[in-house]
Amino acid sequence: MGTVLAVVSQKGGVGKTTTAINLASALAQRGRKTLLIDVDPQGAVRHGMGLAPDAGVAGLADLLAGTHELQDVVQATPLPWLRVLLAGSVSEAAEHETYTANLADSTRLGELFDRARGRGYIVIVDSPPGLGAVTRRVLAHSQHVVVPLQCEPLALQTTTQILRAVREAAMANPALVLDGILLTMLEAGNDVSQRVAAYVREQLPAELLFDVAIPRTMASIDAFAAGQPVILRAPDDAAARAYQRLAELLEPRLA
Ligand SMILES: Nc1ncnc2c1ncn2[C@@H]1O[C@H](COP(=O)(O)OP(=O)(O)OP(=O)(O)O)[C@@H](O)[C@H]1O
Ligand SMILES: [Mg+2]
Repeated sequence: MGTVLAVVSQKGGVGKTTTAINLASALAQRGRKTLLIDVDPQGAVRHGMGLAPDAGVAGLADLLAGTHELQDVVQATPLPWLRVLLAGSVSEAAEHETYTANLADSTRLGELFDRARGRGYIVIVDSPPGLGAVTRRVLAHSQHVVVPLQCEPLALQTTTQILRAVREAAMANPALVLDGILLTMLEAGNDVSQRVAAYVREQLPAELLFDVAIPRTMASIDAFAAGQPVILRAPDDAAARAYQRLAELLEPRLA
């Protein structure tokens, strides 16, 4: 049986998509059968994974709308053990309300996750920022959750909300476990960033925080722009190594 790990955060732009892409790729590199699902209607996974329009943009939204079948929308990647389900045509739409309503009201997302688990996949879910209907639905059907926390001032302020939401989700879905909060974009040589990281480590219980933090690196920015996970484009980069370490830490928990 596989498992579902969701990457969620209250704030936008904290590294969810980067984390989902690199964690999924690192697990696949370790030989784990992995499916990366983009539940965020903005559809950033498509860009981060360099999945060109000629491969088609159909994905989750089209599956939920009932216009496509799973086998038509799951895409192969250069990694043999990694498959991707993009957000789908919603990412090109002017509004996301129909998608959000489809997702929130139907049982299809849960069925999809269960089906993938039944086939032995580790499912990594990239979510939209915030705690809206989409994220709540994802948490209702996940077993694991990782919360990226960007090392910037006020970082802790949004953490309370997300931790409360995870706790609430776990009441209805007792299988849900918070694997940890992941410090992201930690800047070497930047006092503010370092102080935030130290403060967060001081304030939060150690078991809530991963030992590994993801540094901010140029290679990460380059890789995203080039449409490749940094762990593939620049495996020796410090952020790439940190993501590899995260995968190593998480892998034994993802039965
Ligand atoms: N370790 C890193 N080093 C440098 N830049 C990074 C790093 N991680 C993420 N970024 C950059 O920060 C920006 C935001 O990252 P990302 O898209 O992963 O965040 P997000 O939480 O998914 O955002 P959103 O909430 O909009 O979905 C991107 O431009 C990304 O390339
Ligand atoms: Mg994102």
